[in-house]
Amino acid sequence: MTDLVIVGAGGFARETAAAAGHDWNVVGFVDDDPALHGTRRSGLPILGPVDSVRDMPDVKVVVCVGTPRNFTARRGIVERVGLPGDRYATVVHPLASVGAGSHIGPGTVLLAGTVLTADVTVGSHVAIMPQAVLTHDDQVGDYGTIASGVRLGGGVIADEGAYLGAGALVREGVKVGAWSLVGMGSVVLHDVPAGEVWAGNPARLIRPLTRS
Ligand SMILES: CC(C)(COP(=O)(O)OP(=O)(O)OC[C@H]1O[C@@H](n2cnc3c(N)ncnc32)[C@H](O)[C@@H]1OP(=O)(O)O)[C@@H](O)C(=O)NCCC(=O)NCCS
Repeated sequence: MTDLVIVGAGGFARETAAAAGHDWNVVGFVDDDPALHGTRRSGLPILGPVDSVRDMPDVKVVVCVGTPRNFTARRGIVERVGLPGDRYATVVHPLASVGAGSHIGPGTVLLAGTVLTADVTVGSHVAIMPQAVLTHDDQVGDYGTIASGVRLGGGVIADEGAYLGAGALVREGVKVGAWSLVGMGSVVLHDVPAGEVWAGNPARLIRPLTRS
């Protein structure tokens, strides 16, 4: 098995370690919090700061940072570290289902129970949480986040960096604009412009994305 180092040591990073253990030799985490260095999380060591992955040429890497309050963090780290695309692992939990014609980019993680039914395109450095269902012809741009239990109708586009909160439902053919956030449990019936926070049933504008 190929060695894998996970960037971050928070919740999503540890979930990714659990998902990756079937196919990868997970060596440990890297994190910029010096208090974590030399400690262990989920039984795995925190090896050092994030930039130390540049000195580990033989390992694959996956960046697993970001929360609803800071969902641009993944892009920031990928740009800062500057590794070539072939250094990134694609981590797919063995209980995820990837249908014919689907494509998943480097640095992307699919947690348990994710379903890509058919011809789904998922970009690079995307986080897809447990039990998300992406149906035919959906497209998720780079750095997107699909939280647990999201359901996308056919032909939905989640543009670069879009964050779909837990349990959100998106009507077929609808587009969620780049770096927009859809709140948990929302029912999205119409296109969401870029850079906005929408929530509710039906989903409506809550505020512009003044912070992320
Ligand atoms: C949408 C969201 C970002 C709003 O957060 P916020 O900017 O801090 O907004 P607030 O909590 O102050 O709420 C602002 C208003 O929006 C409403 N609201 C917030 N989230 C909502 C949601 N998911 N659905 C419906 N209404 C919502 C609040 O009731 C409030 O309404 P009011 O002004 O009439 O009282 C947040 O609630 C959310 O859903 N985040 C995603 C969480 C998630 O999916 N986590 C999973 C991965 S860990």
